[in-house]
Amino acid sequence: MSDQGGSAFEAVGGEAGVRALVDTFYDLMDMVERYQPIRALHPPDLSGSRDKLFWFLCGWLGGPAHYVERFGHPRLRARHLPYAIGIAERDQWMSCMGEALSRRGLPADLIERLKEAFHGTADWMRNRSG
Ligand code: HEM
Repeated sequence: MSDQGGSAFEAVGGEAGVRALVDTFYDLMDMVERYQPIRALHPPDLSGSRDKLFWFLCGWLGGPAHYVERFGHPRLRARHLPYAIGIAERDQWMSCMGEALSRRGLPADLIERLKEAFHGTADWMRNRSG
């Protein structure tokens, strides 16, 4: 997620921007009725999930490798195997992230780029048909 114009990490607003995006994402997942199926896969207290996604996204967007420094290789697909993720779960995750990106008021072309990249990762996380 970086190109000649600087990293997506910087475009999103550095650590403060990534943190705000993650908080918006999990606030929405927590509150919005249609995201309750994926909300239910998460622990009751979302603070650990927030921290991990924040650490991961900093590196994934081209910023500091906080996640890898703490946990080593992300092995993201393996770490999601305990949760049944099909098309519906992928699409809920993407829709929640899309809403979070819009609420952060980022430029439209950046949002489109990020959505494409998130979609690739979310689709790769599917571990059951349907
Ligand atoms: C496709 C739909 C997805 C679902 C339903 C889902 C669900 C979950 C759940 C239930 C957890 C455990 C939370 C916890 O232990 O607190 C988790 C962890 C995590 N997810 Fe996802 N996730 C999805 C996609 C993604 C995507 C696309 C990314 C990254 C772009 C991502 C990044 C992470 C990270 C970094 C963790 C923490 C892993 C760890 O260290 O344990 N997830 N996810």
